[in-house]
Amino acid sequence: MMKIAMLGSGFIGRFYADSIQGNRSGDKIVSIYSRREESAKKFAADYAVAHWTLNMEESIANPDVNMVCIALPNNLHEEAVMLCCKHKKAVITTKPLGRNAAEAKRMLDAVEQAGIFNGYLEDLVYTPKFLKAQESVQKGSLGRILWAKSRETHPGPHSNWFWDLEQAGGGCILDLGCHCVEISRGYIGKDIKPVEVMCWADTQVKPIDAEDHAIGLVKFENGAIGQFEVSWTFRGGLDLRDEVMGTEGTIWINSFLRTGFEMFTSGKSADYLAEKAESNSGWLFPVGDELNELGYNHMFLDMFSAFEKGRAPKETFYDGYVVNAVLDAAYKSSKSKLWEPVQLEDWRGRTGVGKDSHLTEYDADHYFVKEEVTHYGAKKLILKNKASGKFIEKVVEE
Ligand SMILES: NC(=O)c1ccc[n+]([C@@H]2O[C@H](COP(=O)([O-])OP(=O)(O)OC[C@H]3O[C@@H](n4cnc5c(N)ncnc54)[C@H](O)[C@@H]3O)[C@@H](O)[C@H]2O)c1
Repeated sequence: MMKIAMLGSGFIGRFYADSIQGNRSGDKIVSIYSRREESAKKFAADYAVAHWTLNMEESIANPDVNMVCIALPNNLHEEAVMLCCKHKKAVITTKPLGRNAAEAKRMLDAVEQAGIFNGYLEDLVYTPKFLKAQESVQKGSLGRILWAKSRETHPGPHSNWFWDLEQAGGGCILDLGCHCVEISRGYIGKDIKPVEVMCWADTQVKPIDAEDHAIGLVKFENGAIGQFEVSWTFRGGLDLRDEVMGTEGTIWINSFLRTGFEMFTSGKSADYLAEKAESNSGWLFPVGDELNELGYNHMFLDMFSAFEKGRAPKETFYDGYVVNAVLDAAYKSSKSKLWEPVQLEDWRGRTGVGKDSHLTEYDADHYFVKEEVTHYGAKKLILKNKASGKFIEKVVEE
C-alpha cells in the first residue's frame, strides 16, 4: 500500500490526488506540503490527509511516507529530488523532469546513486488510447514506423510561474513538447536513439520571453521521424492528437476534442467541462472520464505496482532525461535554424542502428514499388528493374 507525500497542492497535485484516492484503492496521501497554509489545509481537508506542512523536507522525511510525488513548479523539482535522495525515499516526478538536460541528468544521477525508486509521471503515454495504439504498433500492425506526430495545443497555462522563463525553464516547447516527444518515442521505440532536431519557434501572441508556438522534427537513428506541434496560443480548448504512419498502417488518435461525445447547451448550468475548455455553452466536447482518458489511473497503477514488485516503471527519470535532451536540441535549433544534434552523454538504448532499407525485393531482377486495383478492373504492379533502374508496369487482368 502506498503512503504518499504530495509536494504541491495546485493543479496537477489535485489531479494526481483524485486519481490516487479516487478508486477505492488502499493508496493514500499521508502528507501534503504546500507553500501557503491556507492551501495546505484545504488540500488536507479535501483529501483527508493526516499531515500538512509548509516545510518540504518535513513532508519527505515523515516516517509514514514510502513514496514522494513531486507536483511543484519546474524550478523546484531538483531541490525536491535531492531531498528524496537524502532521506532515501522513492520518488515520482511530474513532467518535465528538469528545465534542461543538465538539470535532469543531475537528478537521474542522484536517484541512481541513492538507489531509490524513480518514476517519471508522463501521463500521456498511459492513456487507454495510447496504450492500445502502442500495443498494435509493437505487435507489428503498422509495419515499420516511419513518422509519429503528436500535437498538444491549448490557450496557455493556468498559473503565473509557467509564464516566467526562469521558473518554468522554457515556454510551450518544454511544457507541452515533453509530452509529444515521449509519445513519439513510445511509437518509434524508446530503444531507438533520437539523433537530431529541427525546430521553428516564435512568440506570436503572448507578452513573454519564451516561445508560445513551435513545431519540431526529431530524427531517429533508424530513419523514423518524430514531430511535435505545440502552442500556448491555440483557441478552442485542449487539442491532443497523435498520428502514426507505418509501412503497413496508420493510427489517428484524438484524445480530447471531438472524441465522439458532443453536447449542446445554452449554458444554463455553466459547469466545469474539461481541462482548458474555453466555453461551457454552445456545442461542446466533454470528456467522459478525464482522469482515465488523460492516463493518470494507468500511470499510477504502473508506478505503484512497479514499486511493490521491485521493478522499474515504464517511465523512469532516464526517460525524463532523454526528453529534456531532445528539447534542449529543439531550443538550439530554433535559434540556429539548423538541424542540431541531441546531446546524450548517457544513452542506454540500441547503438549503431542503420536507417531501415527502402528496397523491397519482388524477384531476383526487380524491387517492388506498389500494387493497385484500378476502377476498370485491372491489377497493376509497379516494379523497378534493379539493373537498369527503370520503372515498369505489369497489368494483371482480374
Ligand atoms: N499533465 C501533466 O502531467 C501536467 C499538467 C499540469 C502541470 N504539470 C506539471 O506539474 C508541476 C506543477 O504544475 P501545476 O500546474 O500543478 O502548477 P500550480 O501552479 O497549479 O501548482 C503548483 C504548486 O506548487 C506550489 N508552489 C508554487 N510556487 C512555489 C514556490 N516558489 N515554492 C513552493 N511551492 C510553490 C503552489 O502553491 C502549488 O501548490 C509543473 O512541473 C508542471 O509542468 C504536469
